[in-house]
Amino acid sequence: MLDRIKTLAEKLAPRLIEIRRHIHAHPELSGQEYQTAAYIAGVLSSCGLHVEEEIGKTGVVGELEGLGHSDRRLAIRTDMDALPINERVDLDFASRKPGVMHACGHDIHSTLGLGTAMILSQLREELPGNVRFLFQPAEEIAQGAGWMIRDGAMRDVNGILGVHVFPSIPARSIGIRYGALTAAADELEIFIQGESGHGARPHEAKDAIWIAAQAISTLQQAISRTQNPLRPIVLTFGQISGGRAPNVIADRVRLAGTARSLHPETYQNLPQWIEGIVASICSTYGAKYEFNYKRQVPSVQNDGVMTQLIEEAAREAWGSDRVQRIPEPSLGAEDFSLYLEHAPGSMFRLGVGIPGKPNHPLHHPAFEADEAAIVTGVVTLAYAAFKYWDLKD
Ligand code: NI
Repeated sequence: MLDRIKTLAEKLAPRLIEIRRHIHAHPELSGQEYQTAAYIAGVLSSCGLHVEEEIGKTGVVGELEGLGHSDRRLAIRTDMDALPINERVDLDFASRKPGVMHACGHDIHSTLGLGTAMILSQLREELPGNVRFLFQPAEEIAQGAGWMIRDGAMRDVNGILGVHVFPSIPARSIGIRYGALTAAADELEIFIQGESGHGARPHEAKDAIWIAAQAISTLQQAISRTQNPLRPIVLTFGQISGGRAPNVIADRVRLAGTARSLHPETYQNLPQWIEGIVASICSTYGAKYEFNYKRQVPSVQNDGVMTQLIEEAAREAWGSDRVQRIPEPSLGAEDFSLYLEHAPGSMFRLGVGIPGKPNHPLHHPAFEADEAAIVTGVVTLAYAAFKYWDLKD
């Protein structure tokens, strides 16, 4: 089967590069992937998949019916949105939309989903069960997975595979990680309410700026003194505002930030812990507060069995020197984690580093991907999909 998949992928390679370049040249922002979705739906239909559009707003679902008799269903998720970045790469298929760019490789991901669908559709007589392809919108704003799940994309799915390109891994190599791959990301907003007064008479007021400053430093210190150092927390306040004039004591300050964590227990307790510190600082200095905490996405926790499935498929397909274990999780976030609340799954990294070139990171205006990785990704996904039905129920 592996040889057949490889042969099909090599034959399809020029077409897949064409698809990737088309999507790259026509990037669309999160939640506005109308043309991308229509284009993807067209390709899926031409391969004989049952296609549903507008699943999760602009998302597309393609169902490929395997002709075996298994009632287990595997999902393959790829995302398709671009970023508000002005592309700075000189390519003839560079973005034709000023200010919008596929700088996170979601053009490659969409192509991988399509390529895998094309290959598996040609092998459906041997395919033991159904494969559902999820083309997800709005990953960059951590919304699309939730939208698709709400519209039923994970109904009757028993396992799920995902992929993300990675420029610091050389093209044609695969990165595997068991357990935590990315962090949980939450958003928080804190209002500190003091009492205004003359800048010359602080004792008659309650200075919200000073109290906010106390809260920020206490929180950062408390992470190192009260939290298990083997379970990392990152707390970043990216916004702070308050006050009206240099000589008037501010009565109200707004802090807004992001909280990242990896360990499920830390994730669970984080909001109460942060609020507890803010509450005690405020009560010490006689201020009031308002605390808004929004869960964004949990941590991607790769399932052991599904990760092993990808690792074995990749090692068989490419040899062990092209498969690496990723040593550390990332504190970035990825809404693939939401699918994992419905079925075990795993996301791997596909190397797209171009040999001899500076490999700019994801979200960089000069980010470039080696298209040779497309065949690697498609073969890995298609072969892992086949092997999925070798797993015990
Ligand atoms: Ni991305």
